[in-house]
Amino acid sequence: MSHPLLAARMTRVRPSPTAVISDKVRALLAQGKPVINLGEGELSFDTPDHIKAAGIAAIQRGDTKYTAVAGTAALLHAIAAKFERDNGLRYASNELIAGTGAKQLIFNALMATIDAGDEVLLCAPYWVSYPDMVGLAGGTARILSSTAEAGWKLQPETLRAAITPKTRWLILNSPNNPSGAIYSRAELQALTDVLLEHEHVLLMADDIYELVRYGTPFFTPAQVEPRLKERTLTVNGVSKSYSMTGWRLGYAGGPAWLIGAMQTLQSQSTSNASTISQAAAIAALEGDTSFFDVWRDTLADNRQCVLDTVARCAGLHCEVSEGAFYAFVSCAGLIGAQTPDGQILDSDLAVADYLLASAYVGVVHGAAFGTPGYLRLAYAVEPAQLQDACERIADACAMLTLPVAHPA
Ligand SMILES: Cc1ncc(COP(=O)(O)O)c(C=O)c1O
Repeated sequence: MSHPLLAARMTRVRPSPTAVISDKVRALLAQGKPVINLGEGELSFDTPDHIKAAGIAAIQRGDTKYTAVAGTAALLHAIAAKFERDNGLRYASNELIAGTGAKQLIFNALMATIDAGDEVLLCAPYWVSYPDMVGLAGGTARILSSTAEAGWKLQPETLRAAITPKTRWLILNSPNNPSGAIYSRAELQALTDVLLEHEHVLLMADDIYELVRYGTPFFTPAQVEPRLKERTLTVNGVSKSYSMTGWRLGYAGGPAWLIGAMQTLQSQSTSNASTISQAAAIAALEGDTSFFDVWRDTLADNRQCVLDTVARCAGLHCEVSEGAFYAFVSCAGLIGAQTPDGQILDSDLAVADYLLASAYVGVVHGAAFGTPGYLRLAYAVEPAQLQDACERIADACAMLTLPVAHPA
């Protein structure tokens, strides 16, 4: 994207790769192609009825005017109760904020704290938006690597070696998009122990997939290490856990100085989150979450469907993920493969493009998450659709001529 009238900062941001896939999918759908999109990071389930009803009631009550920038007193109360009940974290109301999705809160937190040259530590694979947000804020994203063998988890020695006087933040995301990794209490403690030694570093915990787990317990860093709470922003929201991506409602707890700065930015950009979504989020946070047990069973079956498919495709490999609704699939064995029309697949992007063009299945390539050689399959779609997509992926892989394996 370039135009003489665009600001220089636009060179530091790219359109979200997941939005790019969705655009490609929409273009094919418009041509009448039977595309199945496994690229979109959202649940296919409908928002639960009691939450929808709360949104409708808010409209009917006339709750359609501006509220306090950080959110209504009732919403902040519900958020405080959630943090205390589920995470053992106590926040005063000036330590809490709701915004238009977790995305906006993360963006505002970075904008409020990063000066030119500041560094933000991210562990690959990471959510696609972090590096661009850091760049927009004028900072530099420093990408730390993790390995599939280590469960895609940041190791304390990697963290220790990466911290410099310029480090402003470490961003941790558990359960992780795209790997599904969930940090145990001990793993978090090992990382927070390192951060305790470096008082100038802030910690952002992106807990947006908290409910999306298949039996693994959940911990958040400020709960594990209370001495870090004053330097930790705990970000969460209703998008992923309650199937409310379109309602655009996220929230965060953190030190009053940071929350206050985020509120100031929000007051001059978007103001309060939608009143209707705020009312619905209260119902979500205060209501029964047993609906998720049913969703979890469906998601677990979907996850198994993807694992079974991957197991029968030469060139693909995938470990069981503990959380979120993504399979992070190695396609390293397909790099160098030849398609039926003679094209050589020379990257994970080429593999993703091949699956879209030949099987009409949209997936996101691993390089978008800082980890080339992988594909992210978002499996929270209708089971029948997923089955269909998996068959098509298997058929498309079977049509490839694989590169000759060389002995190591
Ligand atoms: C890791 C992660 N954090 C934050 C978000 C943003 O969530 P929200 O819909 O609340 O803006 C997403 C959405 O894909 C995500 O995957």
